Amino acid sequence: KIIILDFGSQTTQLIGRRVRELDTYCEILPYNKFPEDDQNIKGVILSGSPFSVYDKDAFKADLGRIWGKYPILGICYGAQFMAYSNGGKVEPAGSREYGRAHLSSFSKENKLFRGIKENTQVWMSHGDTITSIPSNFKIIASTDEVKIAAYQVESENIWGVQFHPEVYHTEEGTQLLRNFVVEICGCKQDWSPSSFIETTVAQLREQLKDDKVILALSGGVDSSVAAVLLNKAIGKNLTCIFVDHGMLRKNEFENVMRDYEHLGLNVIGVNAHDKFFGELAGVTEPERKRKIIGKGFIDVFDEEARKIKDVKWLAQGTIYPDCIESLSITGTVIKSHHNVGGLPEKMNLKLCEPLRLLFKDEVRRVGRELGMMEHLITRHPFPGPGLAVRILGDITPEKVSILQNADDIFIRGLREWGLYDKVWQAGVVLLPVQSVGVMGDERTYERAVALRAVTSTDAMTADWAKLPYDFLAKISNEIINKVKGVNRVVYDISSKPPATIEWE
Ligand code: XMP
Repeated sequence: KIIILDFGSQTTQLIGRRVRELDTYCEILPYNKFPEDDQNIKGVILSGSPFSVYDKDAFKADLGRIWGKYPILGICYGAQFMAYSNGGKVEPAGSREYGRAHLSSFSKENKLFRGIKENTQVWMSHGDTITSIPSNFKIIASTDEVKIAAYQVESENIWGVQFHPEVYHTEEGTQLLRNFVVEICGCKQDWSPSSFIETTVAQLREQLKDDKVILALSGGVDSSVAAVLLNKAIGKNLTCIFVDHGMLRKNEFENVMRDYEHLGLNVIGVNAHDKFFGELAGVTEPERKRKIIGKGFIDVFDEEARKIKDVKWLAQGTIYPDCIESLSITGTVIKSHHNVGGLPEKMNLKLCEPLRLLFKDEVRRVGRELGMMEHLITRHPFPGPGLAVRILGDITPEKVSILQNADDIFIRGLREWGLYDKVWQAGVVLLPVQSVGVMGDERTYERAVALRAVTSTDAMTADWAKLPYDFLAKISNEIINKVKGVNRVVYDISSKPPATIEWE
């Protein structure tokens, strides 16, 4: 495997994804947490960083632990840091360099550049530049602007590149990473969904033995794949609980329950509409709504789980981006928005997270390999609190029903027009606004809804989807004609940031 040491760059995860795309297993670790005694490490990649090497607070790794022991590839800050630590010079670049550049000269015989064409486009993003390198480093590539665009340490398997091979705009970035990972480090490219399933099932059997495990299903791809994997490993010892808080999509509960049963999962479906609608009555403040739903969910889950004797484990569909310790300038932040947060402590359960090392696209590949239905695998993300965060103002069963009908028209339309898989996520928002309209000879005074559809790769940033006007016209027409109580449809054209995907 490859270890990627993270110095806080925004593209560190992308490096991980690119290495995985080469069917090679890798782990992203904080710059100062290189593992002790791991026989499986074949090479190390050092990421970029928001810092300058000469900043007082810059992240400094102990290179002694890896230098000469493993092949190393330093990217941007990683390259600057290796040069600087060995007596080279790094200075603010005359002009900050962002965007495309071309490798106007590079040594073609160098192993790192094997198969790369002349003048290839690379992507730069740096404020500092390496102005001199130690005498045992040799320059192996330059651009018109940057003399030291790449170097190799003589007679060592150590390289530094100033540009970013992991970003898509570096045309032959994949080839360069392949040269490093496969040719130089000797990784066998044997990481595949089926090998993952085989090893994970074996590990789960070993870890869980005859223990009982519970898992909260949400209908989403992560928890579903985790459940099917666990079912394969421990069968009847896994009990899944699917809570219907009343704010799921139209017919979602029934459809998903049917899918789960078809997959052979042992699922308990709980209808808790009354509890949630009761507790939410009259509540308008978004965070209050979330808290009520979060706590209600835990209560229901806890109550159901206690009916099963001797449960020892709580399984979750946590995936890699949720667990990577992302280094930020303000300290270590671990992102976590699990809807069952607080449960393991409350119920005294151990946590089992079989997908914690996978990226989303890998979870999907594993799901396919497990024979799951395509519509379960490609389903859009859907927030835990459901339609509650898409009804602005207080929540009533009547509003949920209006929203479910409008949402159903939008989502079915996206599927019919072949647009569903082109957007990351889509839904309808019920606005606390009424406006005047005219239907036939009648004046109407009814609700407005907003359509929301975004493109994204990880939900951290998103852009509004450029859906065809004809499609929007058809959906608007259909919603206004068929959904009683709605006489106006608008389209949300905000990106994230500064807006968010959900309205609440
Ligand atoms: P925002 O609105 O923050 O959403 O741009 C980013 C992604 O997260 C989803 N989301 C949630 N998912 N529980 C969840 O499981 C939540 O409380 C929650 N809030 C937002 C949202 O749908 C989008 O995919």
